[in-house]
Amino acid sequence: MHRTPGFALTVNGSRVELVASREATLLHVLRNDLGLNGPKYGCGLGQCGACTVWVDGVAARSCVIPVHGVAGREITTLEGLGSRARWHPVQQAFEDAQAAQCGYCLNGMVMQAAALLARETNPSEARIRSELSGNLCRCGTHVEITEAVRRAAQSMAGGADS
Ligand code: FES
Ligand code: FES
Repeated sequence: MHRTPGFALTVNGSRVELVASREATLLHVLRNDLGLNGPKYGCGLGQCGACTVWVDGVAARSCVIPVHGVAGREITTLEGLGSRARWHPVQQAFEDAQAAQCGYCLNGMVMQAAALLARETNPSEARIRSELSGNLCRCGTHVEITEAVRRAAQSMAGGADS
């Protein structure tokens, strides 16, 4: 593959210098070069949401973003959102609501929901459903996922961090 000069990204708060082909996607680089496996490869076409990350705080589909197109930008992956030692309230709510079956869609659901709650503190159920409508769950866990996001919103509004 044709290699190109290096460039830098900020990933989960740390600056990383990279070399990647012009064709490489952000998802490919995150998973294969940086070992960040939170974002998942689902459709590879921008249609399922499994690969969702934040670019400058906005949820985006990393499978269709050329990595060179986000040079210098701030990327946040699931690993940067929270950790077992301190889950993000959305992650905690998904655990509390047992909002998973196979779990493959969860990266996208959590990243999309957390982006919503960063902008809107008290979204209605309809708003949550609308926001997550582009994130596919083949297991049909949408009811539990919506409940988890509603719980997370309540938790965040109450100032709780768990
Ligand atoms: S893998 Fe990116 S939207 Fe499906
Ligand atoms: S829990 Fe399996 S795809 Fe959503």
